[in-house]
Amino acid sequence: MAQRGADLGTIQETLLIPLYGRAVENRKKDPILTDPRAEEIVAAIDYDFARFDHLPSLTGTVLRTSLFDRWAADFLTAHPDGTVVEIGTGLNTRFERTDNGRARWFELDLPDVIELRRTFFTDTPRRTTLPASVTDEAWATTVAAHSGGPYFFAAEAVLPFLTEADVHHVVDLLATRFPGSTLALDTTGPSFVDAQDQHDALSKVDARMQWTCADPTQLAEWQPGARILASHTLSSLPTPMYGALPAATQEMLTGLAAQRLPQVEEYRLSLVQLP
Ligand SMILES: C[S@@+](CC[C@H](N)C(=O)[O-])C[C@H]1O[C@@H](n2cnc3c(N)ncnc32)[C@H](O)[C@@H]1O
Repeated sequence: MAQRGADLGTIQETLLIPLYGRAVENRKKDPILTDPRAEEIVAAIDYDFARFDHLPSLTGTVLRTSLFDRWAADFLTAHPDGTVVEIGTGLNTRFERTDNGRARWFELDLPDVIELRRTFFTDTPRRTTLPASVTDEAWATTVAAHSGGPYFFAAEAVLPFLTEADVHHVVDLLATRFPGSTLALDTTGPSFVDAQDQHDALSKVDARMQWTCADPTQLAEWQPGARILASHTLSSLPTPMYGALPAATQEMLTGLAAQRLPQVEEYRLSLVQLP
């Protein structure tokens, strides 16, 4: 099969890191998750993925995705006919891993990403791609017009690339248009953002993070009544998830927790109930 170029903007290129992380994980004997689609997509895109080979943060991306999968699955257990919106979906395959055959899904990203995504995934009456910036309010009107909620928003490795003003705007937009919705997001503290030029994967691309968030409870300052339902670092994952991980990953995470590296401690994965 002929490969196609990625042709992506600077921030958009970062989607290739977690994509490759899932493809590499899929090749392992005892993987954290399986993702045969990621393998197929990596093989179909003409890009120097080898630059990410053997980087520790590839495992970090897979652990993050796995936690977000658990949160999405928990949401769908509680709300089987609910609506999942992937914000900055990239070439993520959460639908393939967690869909329950009933929920409504929207997968939103910038237009060049959606153009690429549509070469690999097909829209259906329950699954719609949206080419838009998350900061553009029009997508919220489309989602509200074509779904009933309740709503689960997954913003995985997206918001740190926006400015703080844009993140604030997005949180206000979600709370105003989808009151009571649940938002899964990751936040990067000052040590993480300041050291990003040395980050094993980010140093291989041009994109840089802009939003520094030392504490995800900041969202409750922006939106009084917002509640943090859960907040984890990669070295303090929920006990049931940790218990289900391959032994080698558990060992690696236990070692990481003992080191208390600021970059690890300040990278948080949080689940927020918006007012
Ligand atoms: C690191 S990738 C993560 C992709 C995906 N969430 C995953 O975990 O595989 C960051 C994604 O955020 C998207 N993104 C960045 N700024 C955005 C914006 N303003 N609106 C929508 N998506 C955006 C990028 O295009 C890219 O797909």
